[in-house]
Amino acid sequence: MGHISDEKIPNNVNLSSDKKLQRALEQWQPDFINWWMEMGPSDFQAHDVYLRTAISVDTDGWAHFDFLKMPEYRWGIFLAEPVANRAIGFGESFGQPVWQDVPGEHRNTLQRLIVTQGDTEPASVEQQRMLGHSCPSLYDLRNLFQVNVEEGRHLWAMAYLLHRFFGREGREEADELLARRSGNEDRPRILGAFNEPIEDWLSFYMFTMFTDRDGKYQLLALAESGFDPLSRTTRFMLTEEAHHMFVGETGVGRVVQKSAELTRRSAHGNPRELGGIDIPTIQKYLNLWYSLSLDLFGSEVSTNAASFFGAGLKGRAKEEKFADHIALQGFYPMELPASDGKLQPQQVPLRSAMNEVLRDAYVEDCQRGVDRWNKTLAAAGLSERLSLPSRRFHRHQGAFDGMPFDPQGKLLPREEWDRRRDEWIPSAADKAYVKSLQAKPLTQPGQMAQWIAAPPRGINNQPLDFVYVRTEA
Ligand SMILES: [Fe+2]
Ligand SMILES: [Fe+2]
Repeated sequence: MGHISDEKIPNNVNLSSDKKLQRALEQWQPDFINWWMEMGPSDFQAHDVYLRTAISVDTDGWAHFDFLKMPEYRWGIFLAEPVANRAIGFGESFGQPVWQDVPGEHRNTLQRLIVTQGDTEPASVEQQRMLGHSCPSLYDLRNLFQVNVEEGRHLWAMAYLLHRFFGREGREEADELLARRSGNEDRPRILGAFNEPIEDWLSFYMFTMFTDRDGKYQLLALAESGFDPLSRTTRFMLTEEAHHMFVGETGVGRVVQKSAELTRRSAHGNPRELGGIDIPTIQKYLNLWYSLSLDLFGSEVSTNAASFFGAGLKGRAKEEKFADHIALQGFYPMELPASDGKLQPQQVPLRSAMNEVLRDAYVEDCQRGVDRWNKTLAAAGLSERLSLPSRRFHRHQGAFDGMPFDPQGKLLPREEWDRRRDEWIPSAADKAYVKSLQAKPLTQPGQMAQWIAAPPRGINNQPLDFVYVRTEA
């Protein structure tokens, strides 16, 4: 049942039974490949990469590892198995059978949700396309490419929903997903964090730790959707997303571990003396990517979020854990800036606070990762610690948009914030330093850059000196 077909477009949705849809997607496929060749990983398209491919949507369907060239990756349409008698889990239609088609009154809203999610997938591939030229090891290079091909797969997931359920407009939106470009002034990607450049590997690990984790929470919320095809699509995407966050959390963890080792070895307790990255610099990268990722959850008080929830389109992460699935009763207490900028306690009706509820779950999850990094620092005998900045710090969305809060959440005079910016966010000099460590790719089997610790084990039980990417193409 979970088996994925061998067709030109691998799928488990019986695509060949819908000739019109199959033809439309077969026309989109070469456009996707053109986009991949133009905007995907630069210069590694002809290399054999040790990649994981889904051969079924069951849990053991991920066991397939093999060498292939990225343009030959089996991108396709994989939905998690349907849940028998699934009912809508929240909102006005709570308890009614889930929708197998798009309810007319929710058509525009659903399309917008899918386009917004879909746009992030190719965006991240574009942001990361140059990183292969500065990889710290073949192990990391392979992980980067695994993430990239899976983001391409996520793009397929959203393009399928648009083609299958949204008619001509949906097809046009699927084309637009291939036409926008990360960071492009004229046709940028939709969301801010996906237009930021990722030019070094510390940023890449922070992105996969914090921004892919936003993805996890958006997908968890959409997995609750009353629109069942969206729920099934996002449930399978979550199995892919887990690896991305593994890459991020362990990547930062290895940089932290190496930083601690070099701090102890260096004469003045400064890891930069030995070509490592110091904890204050790591903290600045964390501050940047965490705050950019918090923005992705949207406004603290949001009528859109309320209507998504009321309509049964987007729930809370793990909705079954909550007692009240209607959420018309009750308030969420928040401290929000009044017109004079001072924080005032406010009672926000629960439905309007759904972005913040999702952000809460995200923040908790991020904190667990930071705690693990801090254990590494403690084990190395260092007193320095990493921390998540206040949610109010460096925000470009919602109630705190553009307000000069410091990482502790204290409102500062604008000029003080501007003056101290480089204490909190990577400065031009920090970026130049981190980049200087990554001037050349390290592609000898078993080689590892001096600013990052080796992982405890390889991919799929392979040794660390395994040739994960055959760079002698
Ligand atoms: Fe994704
Ligand atoms: Fe991802």
